[in-house]
This record gives sequence, structure tokens and C-alpha cells, in this order.
Amino acid sequence: MPRRGMWSLFLDRGIPFRELSPALTKGIMPPTRILLDTDPGIDDSLAILLALASPEISLEGISVVHGNCSAEQGTVNALSVLELAKVSHIPVYKGCELPLVQPSLLAPETHGDKGIGYAKLPEPQTKPQVQKGSDFLIEKIMSAPGEITLVCIGPLTNVALAIRLEPRIVNTVKEVFIMGGAIRHEGNQTPVAEFNTYVDPHAAHIVYHSGMPIILTPLDATYQCILTQDDVNRLLKIDSPITNFIADATRFYMEFHDEYQEIEGCVINDPLTLALTFIPELCDYQELYVDVDISGGVSMGNTFADFYKMTKKPANMMVALGVRPRDFIELFLERMEKFALESNISPGPTTP
Ligand code: BDR
Ligand code: CA
Repeated sequence: MPRRGMWSLFLDRGIPFRELSPALTKGIMPPTRILLDTDPGIDDSLAILLALASPEISLEGISVVHGNCSAEQGTVNALSVLELAKVSHIPVYKGCELPLVQPSLLAPETHGDKGIGYAKLPEPQTKPQVQKGSDFLIEKIMSAPGEITLVCIGPLTNVALAIRLEPRIVNTVKEVFIMGGAIRHEGNQTPVAEFNTYVDPHAAHIVYHSGMPIILTPLDATYQCILTQDDVNRLLKIDSPITNFIADATRFYMEFHDEYQEIEGCVINDPLTLALTFIPELCDYQELYVDVDISGGVSMGNTFADFYKMTKKPANMMVALGVRPRDFIELFLERMEKFALESNISPGPTTP
């Protein structure tokens, strides 16, 4: 049963988003404490960069899950992206290498064999933490009741496992932003299923029905957010390891979108989900009861919402169904430009 008024934190932040950064500067609002559960992944890597570029957020750790690439490779990618951004003090935890029930399904055709398209990053100098991804999520959430926001942008295996290991996290976490599902939109993995949900539908089932305060960003919203080659060319006006990484990674992603979906540019699902943690006004939401098909037939992994309340079940999430796409893309570009410029001159906090 969802918590009473559980989305109030999300809806009543009190300060209009355009004033968030000044409010932060004046010390009125502490940054949102975020844990990122991810399968990096091209758009996951962009979400990591957006988190680092956003003063509204304090990224306290990354747990990695299988998905776009193996959890092993994704962990290397997360460490490498953090090093690229000169923030290798942020801890990375390897999580589940396999879905709960289904066989493994990775996405080299979408993200490249190593998960970051044509980008080549040096082997990271830093190592992942010894603690497992799910244990890290549990420890962090339980140590700060009501303070930790979880952002999940890969298959939900780590989170489902964490719920099974420590059910109290459900009522202790502040909010859970999830990139996943396709409510009215067609699927991007099967005709009716979105990738993250299809890869581990049983994990999604556990999380959706856990009672956590969920804000879901399905393909309905993300597939309107297309980063174009012109956008990337604008970033390339700044010569920086960050902008070059974005260009090399997204070139592969754009080729995939062109070949498989006839989309010019690439859909940046995961950064949109991350952005909603501090600019919820980018989307329009509906409170809905959402379920996922785990019956094993042709609609396995399909996410569906009870718009007409036929099941009489209470809403279990807020669903972002509409978005202002160019506002989001503009925000993304502005943040990346500023971050790239600052990063070019900064020695980084890890350098003495
Ligand atoms: C989701 O699947 C992955 O390809 C992306 O990283 C995103 O999280 C979109 O369906
Ligand atoms: Ca992802």
C-alpha cells in the first residue's frame, strides 16, 4: 500500500525551479542527496555528467547493474566517467550481473560492445568499492531516513534485491525516480515493452508494488527528448574531454536510432529522469496504478496503467506522460557547456 501523501515532497517543493540555484547559493536549500542505480550505457553516462554538473544535486554514490552492458563493464564505465569529470572520490559499487529470473540480455547494438559507443576512455585508476550495490543502497537509505533520493536508470534488479533484503527501505527512502516502462507509447525492446522493464520484469514488479514513492519516466516522455547532431556540434564549440566524450558516445547512439527507429538524433532517456529530481516542472504527471506483465507471453515486460480505475487499486506511482522537450535539451546543453568549461580549468578535488 503506498504511503499517504507520499508524493507531497515531490509536488510541494515550495520554491519554483527557476529559483532553485539562487536558493541553493543562499543556503536556503541543501542539495538533494542522490544515489544513482545505473547500467552505463551511453545515456546513463550523460545522466552521470548531468548529475555532476547540477548544483541542486549531491551525488553520493553509484550502484551498477547489468543492462546496456555487463555489470562488470558498466562498473568500469562509471569509474571512467567519474575520472573524466575529475570526481573519482565518488564511490562506485558493482551490483547484480543477472536479472532475478530471466536470462541475461545486454544491448551492444544500442550502446556498443563496451557500453559507451565510439568513446574510448582510459582504464580507470580507481577501483569499485568492495560492498555490493544492493547492500550499499540499503546502508545509505537506512542511515538517513527521509533524506535519500534514489534514481534508477537501468533494470531494477539491484533495487528489488535491496527491498527483499531490507524491506524497511521502502518507507525510509525519500523518493524513487525510475526510468522505465512504456505506458501509451510503443516499446523499444519488444513491440510493447521498454528495455529496462523487459530485461528484468520481475524486479520491476517487486519495485512497482513495494509501496515506495515512485516517480516513473516512461518512453512516453523520454522519446520526445531527442539530442540532435546540431546540439552536439554546439557542445563541440568547446574543446574539452567532456564534450568530445559526449560526441563520440552519441555518434554511435545516433546511428542506432537512425538504423532501427528512423529517429534523427538520439533519445536521452536517463538524463531526463535525473533532471526531474530538481526540475519536476519539465513534465506533466498523472497519479496512476501501474503494473507490469510477468506472465511470460508476448507482452512480457509490458507496463500498463489503469487510467479508468477499473481495478479499484490505489495509485502506486506518479507517471510523467508529458514533457517540454526543448526546455530539457536546452537545460542539458547549458549544463554541459558550463561543466566542460569549468572542468577544463579545474584540477579536480582529487588532485592535491
Ligand atoms: C532505457 O534503456 C537503455 O537503453 C537506456 O539506458 C535507458 O535507461 C531506455 O529504454
Ligand atoms: Ca540506462
